[in-house]
Amino acid sequence: MKRSSLTYLFAFAASAVLFTACQSGGEFRGREYMPDMAHSIAYEANLNTYYSLNHWGGKEAYDAFVQPRTPEVGTIAHGRSKENVRINSPYTYPVYAFANTEGERTKASELILDNPVRPKDAAELEKVLSDGKDLYNIYCSSCHGKAGDGNGQLYEMGVYPAAPKNFLLADMVESTDGRYYHAIMYGKNVMLSHADKLSHDERWMVIHYIRSLQAAKAGTEYNLEAASAPKGGKKPEAKEEAKKDDKKEAGKDAKKGK
Ligand code: HEC
Repeated sequence: MKRSSLTYLFAFAASAVLFTACQSGGEFRGREYMPDMAHSIAYEANLNTYYSLNHWGGKEAYDAFVQPRTPEVGTIAHGRSKENVRINSPYTYPVYAFANTEGERTKASELILDNPVRPKDAAELEKVLSDGKDLYNIYCSSCHGKAGDGNGQLYEMGVYPAAPKNFLLADMVESTDGRYYHAIMYGKNVMLSHADKLSHDERWMVIHYIRSLQAAKAGTEYNLEAASAPKGGKKPEAKEEAKKDDKKEAGKDAKKGK
């Protein structure tokens, strides 16, 4: 009995010493008991957070863990390969193969005709439009206006110098979805890219919503049929600038030996 309480006392004293003697102070950085608990050994891809006191494997093993993973077979990096464009397949994630030039804007407007987000029924369309509305009001309406008429708050206040596009005018109503998608990806002149603000599907939901604003203005219903029909068909005029860009791009391809 006596002995075991002595043992407890000793254990208590020893741990008190252990925990107080390792504290940092002055020049001494202190000692850590079980550093793996304080410094997570979990690794993050592409981020080397190696800590010298990790007690499993050395730096080499850690370095091997944080290397980029090998992509799944068939993975296509977004915007990387011109060979793998599948613009018209519904609900796929096509590679965005068009570059940020006026010539490529024209090309995108000619080639991208369908909105790949295709709601199956009225309820899904309603959800797409309500999500599209929220996103539009967050990211676009400050310039393009809640109604899509180009009279956004920023523009009306006079803060923003250039007139944002009025989506309700014939020019935009008659343009293809590609023209919208390209503008979201790269912006245009003073409008900056919104590619990092919206995911692939979100961009297309915003376009559905803009189309529904146009339909409301025209007094037509934006139903399932209207949502799945290719729109516009009118191409933006290919300006001199566009032709120059095309030549530049062609030159680049020729250099690459394509
Ligand atoms: C900061 C203001 C601003 C915001 C925010 C903005 N835009 Fe624009 N947008 C403009 C201006 C200005 C133009 C006219 C550019 C020009 O023609 O020089 C424009 C032009 C466009 C065009 C026409 C491009 C063409 O081919 O002529 C589209 C489509 C468009 N915007 C879509 C959007 C969408 C969709 C959003 C939201 C995701 C958005 N914009 C957010 C200012 C803005």
